[in-house]
Amino acid sequence: MFGDDRTDKDRQLDDARVDYQDTALTTDQGARVDDTDNSLRPGERGPTLMEDFHFREKLTHFDHERIPERVVHARGSAAHGYFEPYGDGLAAFTRARFLTTPGLRTPVFVRFSTVAGSRGSADTVRDVRGFAVKFYTAQGNFDLVGNNIPVFFIQDGIKFPDFVHAVKPEPHNEVPQASSAHDTLWDFVQLQPETTHMMMWLMSDRALPRSYRMMQGFGVHTFRLVDAEGRGTFVKFHWKPKLGIHSLVWDETQKIAGKDPDFNRKDLWEAIETGNFPEWELGVQLVAEEDEHSFDFDLLDATKIIPEELVPVQPVGRLVLNRNPDNFFAETEQVAFHIGNVVPGIDFTNDPLLQARLFSYLDTQLIRLGGPNFSQIPINRPLAEVRNHHRDGYHQMIIPRGRASYHPNSTGGGCPAVGGADAYTHFQERVDGHKIRRRSTSFADHYSQATLFWNSMSSWEKAHIVAAFRFELGRVVDPRIREGVVRNLRNVDHELASLVAAGLGAAPPAEAAVPNHGRSSPALSQDHAPVRSV
Ligand code: HEM
Repeated sequence: MFGDDRTDKDRQLDDARVDYQDTALTTDQGARVDDTDNSLRPGERGPTLMEDFHFREKLTHFDHERIPERVVHARGSAAHGYFEPYGDGLAAFTRARFLTTPGLRTPVFVRFSTVAGSRGSADTVRDVRGFAVKFYTAQGNFDLVGNNIPVFFIQDGIKFPDFVHAVKPEPHNEVPQASSAHDTLWDFVQLQPETTHMMMWLMSDRALPRSYRMMQGFGVHTFRLVDAEGRGTFVKFHWKPKLGIHSLVWDETQKIAGKDPDFNRKDLWEAIETGNFPEWELGVQLVAEEDEHSFDFDLLDATKIIPEELVPVQPVGRLVLNRNPDNFFAETEQVAFHIGNVVPGIDFTNDPLLQARLFSYLDTQLIRLGGPNFSQIPINRPLAEVRNHHRDGYHQMIIPRGRASYHPNSTGGGCPAVGGADAYTHFQERVDGHKIRRRSTSFADHYSQATLFWNSMSSWEKAHIVAAFRFELGRVVDPRIREGVVRNLRNVDHELASLVAAGLGAAPPAEAAVPNHGRSSPALSQDHAPVRSV
């Protein structure tokens, strides 16, 4: 930090900032331009001349302005700020200094997004919201790439392309844009009952946030904190907004989408411009390694929460957003979050959804951001020193000097130190590898926590969920798909399924043969011993 509230990242970005005011117009090569309105033509009516280098350069650059939008989460808004831990309470669990050094302010860049719509879609649609935080720590960049809903649609990332193809506009006519009210999504939902818990959240008012400033965030997966001795502790990350959680109601979202499609984007921008800096508290749920199997769900299953009655959320720090980006494209569009960007003291688990993400983000960014050097783009550059043996590639922005780009070498520059006190050391995970493609049986319980969610709702919240199902399914053309969804909902709650069916003009469904797959929801279970949290 410097005298004002500028962070080290601000100072690093200064190297890339250009202030164009009161300067003369030049070509890309710096030659001053005498005319940018009239292309070079012989006579009064002659053709444009090939030698008009300014004309060619101007049009060529314009022709190449677009890069691919993100394959999901294309529409987003971002801001700069900082994270500050409250104390050193996590020092017993992790080597990550940005989490354990009291008063240390780590610069962050945070991007909020919708998932399904394209870059130009409306803000106030019914959708999950992304909540991606890049911490520029002294030990390297750490990205917490989460959502505003604590669970996910699928349990295994190999299904992600199927899910996204189903939720995105349909392939033949690219309809509907940024809405989940269509056959392919609900067809996937009815055929993949593991989506049920997430669909309950998606049909609730959580999917209609009034403001990004009033929205929770979740890391979703179970991650691991790792201490200096290599001991691990399971962790779930939570962001709680200081302003509380507030949603729009469905009718408002419809009107706002028409009148002000930038509603959430403008709200974030204007709050920061007027000094009303949004703030969140970071909370953690910690579970000791030896308690891994103490729950009636699997910690590796991203369709399940850890109920807070079982493991409370402990507040550990705060996040403040206090500066808008200077340039949307350079910062908000070019920022590359990746769940695999971790620092010493934070590690992964074998959650099969998490594992797939570890592959997907880097892979997609290689094409979206034009090759392997995108970590040199100013918004992505770590504050930590970067030293490696990479070479070349599109858009190399630095000039590595010397001859040595291999390891080991004695030709100059020396080798980067490998290992040492602050090196990233992977957690020593124990793996049982004698069976493939197997999971805990609790992965097959798709309904208990959906029921838990439904039962936790007030009557008006339940009414909103029923109305949402009716609206969405009411736009599904194929009756077999509607019936399939209602059949699944019987396993959540028979009254819910009956109310949805009635709204669709269908007969009340029969009771589910085995409600809840015979399982009770964790927090409601009488004989469930409370699990020790650390
Ligand atoms: C983008 C969250 C699951 C692939 C994003 C973004 C967020 C996010 C917040 C936007 C990042 C930004 O603002 O730039 C999540 C969460 C997931 C999840 C919380 C589940 C817990 C997955 C899975 C895959 C995946 C399973 C693939 C296997 C992608 C891709 C992008 C993306 C390809 C675009 C990244 C880019 O172009 O930079 N995700 N996601 N996500 N996600 Fe996920």
